[in-house]
Amino acid sequence: MILVAKVISRLRRAWYGAGYTREHWSRAERIAYLESVVEYLTWQTRNQAALLRHLAAPMVDDLPAVRRTKESFDFQWAEIPTGRHMLDHPAFRAEATDYVSQFTGLPPEWFRGKRVVDVGCGMGRYSWALCALGADVLSMDQSDHGLRHTADACREFPSHQTLEIDLLKPLPVFEQADLVWSFGVLHHTNTYKAFRNVAPLVKPGGYLYLMIYGSRGSASAATLRRSPNGGVASPHREPGSARQAESHSHNMAAGGFQVTGDEYVHGYFDAIAPPINDLHTFQEIEGWLIEAGFVDIKRTVPSRNIHVIGRKGGTP
Ligand SMILES: C[S@@+](CC[C@H](N)C(=O)[O-])C[C@H]1O[C@@H](n2cnc3c(N)ncnc32)[C@H](O)[C@@H]1O
Repeated sequence: MILVAKVISRLRRAWYGAGYTREHWSRAERIAYLESVVEYLTWQTRNQAALLRHLAAPMVDDLPAVRRTKESFDFQWAEIPTGRHMLDHPAFRAEATDYVSQFTGLPPEWFRGKRVVDVGCGMGRYSWALCALGADVLSMDQSDHGLRHTADACREFPSHQTLEIDLLKPLPVFEQADLVWSFGVLHHTNTYKAFRNVAPLVKPGGYLYLMIYGSRGSASAATLRRSPNGGVASPHREPGSARQAESHSHNMAAGGFQVTGDEYVHGYFDAIAPPINDLHTFQEIEGWLIEAGFVDIKRTVPSRNIHVIGRKGGTP
C-alpha cells in the first residue's frame, strides 16, 4: 500500500515538475506530512516540558495544581480503598512480593533485614509487600488517609513506620536506606524537584527504584511488542495516554459513572483526576540519576512506563 502511494507520488511529481505544490498533494502525502509535523512538535514539546520542570522547580510548592493533586489522592484513599490491584484483593496480595522483585530486578532474599523507604506509599500496598519480604520499612506520603491505611495494612510488622512528608520540600534524612522505592509518584509532583529531594535518602551503595510514567516513544516499538499485552507489562495504569483517559472519562460520565465496586477504578482515577500527571523519557530520568551520582542504571521492565533502578556510587 505504502509502495503504491510512493509510486503514485513520484509519477505526480514528474507530471507537475517544479509546479508540484501542496495543493497537488494526495491524501496519503498530506497525512505523511502531518504525521512528520506532529512527531516534530511532540519532540519539541517534550524538550520544552523537560526544561520547564528544571526552571519551575524552585517555585512550584504551593501552586493550585500541586494542592489539587495532593487533595485528589487524599480523596482517592479516603473514598475508594478497594480494587483489583489493592491489598484487599486476594490475588494482588498473592502477587505483590513478586512485583517488587520483578520491578526492582532484586531477588526476594535480598530484602531481608534491609532498610527500605517507600516514597509516596499511597495506601501501602507495596509497603506491605516490602515488609512481607522481610525489610524494615518507612512509608512516606502527604496523604493522611493513605498513611492511616498503610499503618493499618502493615500492623503485623512491628518495625514498620509512617511519616507525613511533602516531596516538594527537603526530606528529613534520619538514616539513609538500602533501597528507596517510589512507584507511580514523582510525576504527580514536579518530578525533577521531588527526585532531587528523594535521591539523598539512598545510602552509598544503596538502590533507588522509580516507576515514572513514560511518554510515547520512551520504549522502542520492539520492546513494547515483546512485553505481555503489547506493553502493558504491569497491572497498573500503563499505556493511558491523555486521549485515552479523556475518552474513558467521557464514556464513564455518559454512562452514569459508578465508582464504587469498579475494581479497576484506581487506573481511571489516576489517569483523570490529579491535575499534575507528567510523562517522561528514559533519557531524562537517566540524566538526573547520573547527575545525582547513580551508576548501573537499568530499566527493569519492558514497558512504555519507566521502571528504573540505579545504585548510588561510593562505598557503603
Ligand atoms: C499514584 S499514587 C501511588 C501510590 C503507591 N506508590 C502505589 O503504588 O500504590 C501517588 C502517591 O503520591 C502521593 N503524593 C503526591 N504528591 C505528593 C507530594 N507532593 N508529597 C508527598 N506525596 C505526594 C499521593 O498522596 C499518592 O499517595
